[in-house]
Amino acid sequence: MKTCLIFFFFFYLAILQLYTSVSSSPPLLLPLSHSLSTSKHSSSPLHLLKSSSSRSSARFRRHHHHNHKHQQQLPLPLSSGSDYLLSLSVGSSSSVSLYLDTGSDLVWFPCRPFTCILCESKPIPSSPPSLLSSSASTVPCSSPSCSAAHSSLPSSDLCAISNCPLDLIETGECNTSSYPCPPFYYAYGDGSLVAKLYSDSLSLPPVSVSNFTFGCAHATLAEPIGVAGFGRGRLSFPAQLAAYSPHLGNSFSYCLVSHSFDSDRVRRPSPLILGRFNNEKEKRVETSDDEEEEKKKKSGFVYTEMLENPKHPYFYSVSLQGISVGKRNIPAPAMLRRVDRNGGGGIVVDSGTTFTMLPAKFYNSVVEEFDSRVGRVHERADRVEPGSGMSPCYYLNQTSVKVPTLVLHFAGNGSSVTLPRRNYFYEFMDGGDGKEEKRKVGCLMLMNGGDEAELKSGPGAILGNYQQQGFEVVYDLLNRRVGFAKRKCASLWDTLN
Ligand SMILES: *[C@@H]1O[C@H](CO)[C@@H](O)[C@H](O)[C@H]1NC(C)=O
Ligand SMILES: *[C@@H]1O[C@H](CO)[C@@H](O)[C@H](O)[C@H]1NC(C)=O
Ligand SMILES: *[C@@H]1O[C@H](CO)[C@@H](O)[C@H](O)[C@H]1NC(C)=O
Ligand SMILES: *[C@@H]1O[C@H](CO)[C@@H](O)[C@H](O)[C@H]1NC(C)=O
Repeated sequence: MKTCLIFFFFFYLAILQLYTSVSSSPPLLLPLSHSLSTSKHSSSPLHLLKSSSSRSSARFRRHHHHNHKHQQQLPLPLSSGSDYLLSLSVGSSSSVSLYLDTGSDLVWFPCRPFTCILCESKPIPSSPPSLLSSSASTVPCSSPSCSAAHSSLPSSDLCAISNCPLDLIETGECNTSSYPCPPFYYAYGDGSLVAKLYSDSLSLPPVSVSNFTFGCAHATLAEPIGVAGFGRGRLSFPAQLAAYSPHLGNSFSYCLVSHSFDSDRVRRPSPLILGRFNNEKEKRVETSDDEEEEKKKKSGFVYTEMLENPKHPYFYSVSLQGISVGKRNIPAPAMLRRVDRNGGGGIVVDSGTTFTMLPAKFYNSVVEEFDSRVGRVHERADRVEPGSGMSPCYYLNQTSVKVPTLVLHFAGNGSSVTLPRRNYFYEFMDGGDGKEEKRKVGCLMLMNGGDEAELKSGPGAILGNYQQQGFEVVYDLLNRRVGFAKRKCASLWDTLN
């Protein structure tokens, strides 16, 4: 108990010293591990690249595909997050590792007995699927949570499905465990699941949240690992935490340790900080530009506003105005600057997609400008491109390789984010397998998301986690904005811990 208190005292001090914002209670620091660090079989960078790039595009395509197929089910998330894992425990069961996903809104995990179809090629969690604890209770069909899990289907329909008698439906009394929420179906990028809704206590030492609602899946297709949805819906992790502690639930940030697909580089945890900053709503009108500038310098954060999207309420969509490649600014198409009436457009800040996906025309302009500079000096490595899923790639035959800077211009005054080179240009050795000589290759790590016309009903673009490495990304839910600050994430963990 004593050591615990001392720990928190220093933890609190560290936060106070680092950031001048004073909060009523300290934030909660949790470690995120990258799935690379836990995977048992070592894969070549090329193999890892290929699987990450195909997953990114499957997830992105699903946003749009899904919309056409299930017009009625728009509020559903699109695909399961990947890459970064958060451990938590529910009820009396041991801890389970879930993908942290800001692109979806539900927390679910596998429950025993568990069947995963087509999971042979997937990373299987080291611990067996968790057992639902005896303290878990079903969620009644009349609960708003049940409706949320069923894409806002009315309670009366759900209660009819769970065989609640008509008179009780009419009087709103299907609220007992006799009429549980029916199982629901979730479709993901390249997988799906059927789950039941339960409520139990969530334990994130030192915090414990009673009555935490989650999905328990006994059968999935190609989804062996659960997901902690950090999106904006009522079932999402931060939303449920906010009901328990507004301070902890109203803002969170993460800082992803740079990995370059090298598992040795991600042995250190990436910090996830719940309850980042104070719980005061910022008084923006009263701060002068100078104060605003001053604040920005202190925290290092560059902010951009979240765009409201009634069709996809769980997304953190922001407005992208353009991308600079070297000195040339390439303006973003209108669809990335705003969200239209049909819920299309904007760029989604997503922890669960690896690579940034841009609409084809815009992507091509960025690549063209990039290639006009890098391709002038370096031979194009066409042969490597299909194998990695990334392009353009170049053979790098010099010790110092000049690559133009990439700057993302988000909406807002001074809301530009200069990406470190390793966030968009990945260098690795290719060949050396006997057939080909070993050569150094560098690839641009952005992806083509497809034609604008095909992207109309969903997000126009996704800001992937690879591009977020080495930044603390804060989701300020109270002030409805997303912030980026360049950080050494491994040191941030050490400092806060
Ligand atoms: C169910 O709803 C009825 C009517 O609103 C209420 O009287 C009753 O206490 C509720 N039961 C439970 C278990 O919440
Ligand atoms: C548990 O949470 C649900 C909503 O998530 C709510 O409807 C229900 O009343 C809560 N139960 C208790 C005992 O707090
Ligand atoms: C690098 O490769 C390009 C294209 O093959 C060639 O033109 C250039 O001279 C090479 N540079 C060096 C320093 O070897
Ligand atoms: C942006 O900020 C700068 C300096 O703080 C100020 O001079 C300029 O007028 C601002 N522009 C807008 C559009 O607010």
